[in-house]
Amino acid sequence: MKLLIDDANVTWIKKLLKYYPIDGVTTNPTILSRTGRPPYEALKEIRSLLGDERELHIQVLSSDAEGMVKEAKKIISEIPGNTFIKIPCVPEGFAAMQLLKEEGIHTTGTTVFTPMQALLAAKSGASYVAPYVNRIDLLGFDGVLVAKQIHQILTVYGYPCRVLAASFKNTQQMQELALAGIASITSPPDLIEEYVNNPVIYTSIQSFEDNFARVYGEGLDMTKFD
Ligand code: E4P
Repeated sequence: MKLLIDDANVTWIKKLLKYYPIDGVTTNPTILSRTGRPPYEALKEIRSLLGDERELHIQVLSSDAEGMVKEAKKIISEIPGNTFIKIPCVPEGFAAMQLLKEEGIHTTGTTVFTPMQALLAAKSGASYVAPYVNRIDLLGFDGVLVAKQIHQILTVYGYPCRVLAASFKNTQQMQELALAGIASITSPPDLIEEYVNNPVIYTSIQSFEDNFARVYGEGLDMTKFD
């Protein structure tokens, strides 16, 4: 499963890249606005931190297909590498995805709330579809179930389109999708740290160190022995 960071804060991105096997970064207009920086300045720094191989997903703001295509080309020219253009899954967006597919520009269908929306994006040539798990939960439906259903539809038909599940508020939502074999998730930075935020892990490690030190001496590790 690919694991992406759903944030544009470079301090967070640097920290997470240092420790975790991160596959990329997703942004949206709200996430970019939270940086308080000019958009391309922030995105160029993120691209340089990620390198060319990791994925960077950037959303358009236009509401018509022609504008979305124009924005996509501008984004790709400013931020080359493994960049995906996030296109809302609305009628103008499906038209834009089909045009961008012809141009060889990779797209991610975003603002996905239903399986049939995702199916339309897949048929329009999107590389990913992004169901909004927590926002679906907030509507009183089951976001994890919707993401699983999308995964099943894409798998059954063999579309070259994968789920990039988004909008999470807890790690349980992510774990459920990992168990279902979802291709990718994008997580808020603090939730990635929650995966290993459990005192039992650290007390276990401490007990190994203490037991070893009691017999072999303080401050020693396996490089100190022949
Ligand atoms: C994905 O890239 C979405 O834009 C994002 O996950 C939405 O998350 P939110 O519902 O927490 O705003």
